[in-house]
Amino acid sequence: MADAARGMGSLPVANVQALAETCNNGVAEPVPRRYLSKDPSAEEVVAADDSSHAIPVIDFRKLLDPESSEEECARLGSACHRWGFFQLINHGVPDEVIANLMKDVVGFFKQPLEAKKECAQQADSLEGYGQAFVVSEDQKLDWADMLYLIVQPRESRDMRFWPTRPASFRDSVDSYSLEASKLAYHLLEFMAKGVGADPASLRGVFQGQVRGMRANYYPPCRQAADRVLGLSPHTDPNGLTLLLQMNHDVQGLQVSKDGRWFPVQALDGAFVVNVGDALEIVSNGAFKSVEHRAVIHPTKERISVALFHFPDQDRMLGPLPELVKKGDRVRYGTTSYQDFLKQYFTAKLDGRKLIESFKLE
Ligand code: OGA
Ligand code: NI
Repeated sequence: MADAARGMGSLPVANVQALAETCNNGVAEPVPRRYLSKDPSAEEVVAADDSSHAIPVIDFRKLLDPESSEEECARLGSACHRWGFFQLINHGVPDEVIANLMKDVVGFFKQPLEAKKECAQQADSLEGYGQAFVVSEDQKLDWADMLYLIVQPRESRDMRFWPTRPASFRDSVDSYSLEASKLAYHLLEFMAKGVGADPASLRGVFQGQVRGMRANYYPPCRQAADRVLGLSPHTDPNGLTLLLQMNHDVQGLQVSKDGRWFPVQALDGAFVVNVGDALEIVSNGAFKSVEHRAVIHPTKERISVALFHFPDQDRMLGPLPELVKKGDRVRYGTTSYQDFLKQYFTAKLDGRKLIESFKLE
C-alpha cells in the first residue's frame, strides 16, 4: 500500500512556537513579514455569536436509533452537501480516550524545542514535527507548527517520528485512532444512506486504508493576530476528517460559504467533521469539500487534532457508479489518487483550486 504524503517534503521553516515567544514577550521582536499575509478588512467574517449561521449539528445517537435514523441521515446528507461541515454530538468515542489524547498532545507541544526536535521531519517526508506546504522561499507562511503521523493501519507507522514523551503518547494515539476510525466508517455508511446509496459503498473505499493524524499548534500573536493566518484556506485532500479542538474558548476554525467566513464555535465533547476532496469526487459532488482556514488569537494558544481518512491510494479515484444519481451525469474525472496527492502536497495551499481542476464541465 502506498502511504499518504510519503516521499513528499516541505522546505524547512522557523519553529513558530519559539518565534511567537520572542514576538509576544515584553521587548517584542517584530513578526517577520513572511507571516503577515492577511488584509483584515478584505474578507467578510460573520459574527461568531450569530447562531443562525452555525454549521449544522448532527446527533450520532439519532442516526443509530431506528425511530429517528432516516430523518437524521437526511439532515446529515444535507449538511454534507450544503456546508461540507458539521459538528457531531453523542458520538460514542469514550471521553477517556479523547481526554488521554488531548493531554498527551498538549504535553508533547509543551516540551522544550530540543525535545520536540527528536521527532523533526526529515527531507522528503511530511511526517514528524515541522510544517507542510512550504514550496518556495518567498511564499507567505502559516503561524503554526504541526506534528503529522500516519497512525493506521499499524503496519504503516514510522515510529521514528512518534514521540516517546509523554510516556503514554503512543498508546493514547493508538486507542484514539482506532475508536475514531470506527466512528468514521459508521458515519460513511450513514452518509451513503443519506443520499440513497448502499451503506457499504462509501465505507468500502476507505475502510482499512491509511489514516493520518495532524496535531496543530497555533501560538498566540499579540502584535498582529488579525494579519497572520494559522492555516491558509484549503480543502482537505482525503475523504472524511474528524477534528478535535483542545481549547473551546479560543475560536480559530472558519468555514467558507457563499463568499463569507463562518467561525466554528466548537461544542465541548463534539467532533467537527468535514468532507474532503476524495469524498466529493467519489460522491459525484453530493458531498462538498469546502474551503476552511484557521485564524489566530492575540493572547491564547490553540491546539487541534485532525484525523484524515484516506481512500485506497493504489486505485483510480472517480465517482462511484452507485453515487451518480439517476439522470445525473458524471461530474468529475477519474484520476490516480497518488497523482492527486502529489499535486496537492507539492503546491502551496490554495483553496479549491485543485479539486476544481478535476471537475468535468
Ligand atoms: C486541518 C485543519 C483546522 C483547525 O488540519 O486540515 O483544517 O482548526 N485544521 O486546526
Ligand atoms: Ni483542513
